[in-house]
Amino acid sequence: MDKKFARITLDKDFPISRVDKRIYGSFVEHLGRAVYGGVYQPGHPSADEEGFRQDVLDLVKEIGVPIVRYPGGNFVSNFYWEDSVGPVADRPRRLELAWRSTEPNLVGVNEFSSWCKKAGTDLMMAVNLGTRGIDAACNLLEYCNHPSGTKYSDLRVSHGIKDPHNINLRRKNGAKEPFGVKLWCLGNEMDGPWQTGHKTAREYGRLADETAKAMKQIDPSLELVACGSSNTGMATYPQWEATVLEEAYDSVDFISLHTYYGNRFNDTRNFLAQSDDMDHFIRTVISTCDFVKAKKRSKKDIMLSFDEWNVWFHANEADDDTMQNRPWSVAPHLLEDHYDFEDALLVGLMLITLLKHSDRVRMACLAQLVNVIAPIMTEENGPAWKQTIYYPYLHASKYGRGIALNPSLRSSKHDTMDFTDVTDVDSVAVWNDEKEELTIFAVNRDLDEDIVLEADVKSFAGYRLLEHIVLEHDDMKAVNSAGRQTVLPKTVTDRDELKDGLLQSRLGKASWNVIRLGKN
Ligand code: AHR
Repeated sequence: MDKKFARITLDKDFPISRVDKRIYGSFVEHLGRAVYGGVYQPGHPSADEEGFRQDVLDLVKEIGVPIVRYPGGNFVSNFYWEDSVGPVADRPRRLELAWRSTEPNLVGVNEFSSWCKKAGTDLMMAVNLGTRGIDAACNLLEYCNHPSGTKYSDLRVSHGIKDPHNINLRRKNGAKEPFGVKLWCLGNEMDGPWQTGHKTAREYGRLADETAKAMKQIDPSLELVACGSSNTGMATYPQWEATVLEEAYDSVDFISLHTYYGNRFNDTRNFLAQSDDMDHFIRTVISTCDFVKAKKRSKKDIMLSFDEWNVWFHANEADDDTMQNRPWSVAPHLLEDHYDFEDALLVGLMLITLLKHSDRVRMACLAQLVNVIAPIMTEENGPAWKQTIYYPYLHASKYGRGIALNPSLRSSKHDTMDFTDVTDVDSVAVWNDEKEELTIFAVNRDLDEDIVLEADVKSFAGYRLLEHIVLEHDDMKAVNSAGRQTVLPKTVTDRDELKDGLLQSRLGKASWNVIRLGKN
């Protein structure tokens, strides 16, 4: 068998793009224990004066999550935002249709905006284009962003006056001030028959366009995301994107992409090749955007918001069962995927793929953030803890800021059940020009052999090796838990050699690698 190899050439003169930090975003939906028992749990030992779990906030801050999409997801298509504001005691409980739950509205727009401030993140708000339309979207925008002197902005300002709890919050957090939400999603997965208020592409495209125009009349500086396909398996993909953009090209800035992968047939090689599908998905959506651009003789580019991506399959069976037989309840255990080591590798590969397309993918949200298909889990009476997928996400967000470089990757390849010509190694690099650091992200997806990655880094004269972080484990199914971090990154010191502008790094079989070079 031919020797396995991987080579990259990294040159400051061959950038992909400056990375928009918003590709390291995440997502909190009113679903399962994401909000109640996740970010919010009054009475928990770590809860602050607003009921937010400080242990969760600490982990979110450690990752450095720049944007958080909220409040859904499928939830948003039946969301009545007015129910989620005002004195907490007056807020109604509602039947939440998407996840067959009872929504108590204890956390709403004000509270989540306050949580975002504490987490050091920007709110990416979604509006309901399922059961509602232009007026609810504009009213929510006025509520959130208009300073005062109008119906909904004054409502925001007055909130808290009747309620002693909120008076404190207002003084403390300045909730009287507008929230200044710049990023808005125009509905969610409107192509999906499961979506409350599901529409055809033409119906949705028209509604998205009219809603976008009205919202931009209120604030032209908003950035608006139209719904693309829910996944590449949809029968309407990618005509959906073309039709929606034919209607809304001039009024929106982004089109969304969503994808979730799983290892349902326990075929790890095939599972780890699925980032190639993500790559293909991105290329197709870019082509579709540019096709509509050409048809419209437009000068504007539509950017991509990959605002739901992750591994999601572990909890599917249990969830399907609960969804059908469960009585209505608040914050049931749903979508609580327990991630293993190989999931972390695929998440790393997906991050590499996003970075390779950072010229067009300007936003992305790991779905989701806490308890629901999430890197962070919480114990009701215990701590918050890190799933395996936490680590590649942390590393990319921490070290993947700056300019993504075209790696010109050449690697030996293999075929899997669904994919051909899958590179044994996938890799990308980010040059942080401010800190003068170069970070190479690389996954060896070969399950049997270590592979030496040769990187030509002559363009980085004077740089030396800072560290080589590795996530690897003999057991692909190893998991973490509240009490035990079985899958934990380590720093290795015997795998790299940098000489005359050539870096040789040994990538352990089935491993996620973060190789950092710097001047200082
Ligand atoms: O993230 C979980 C769900 O997945 C979201 O609510 C929906 O948008 C997608 O189908």
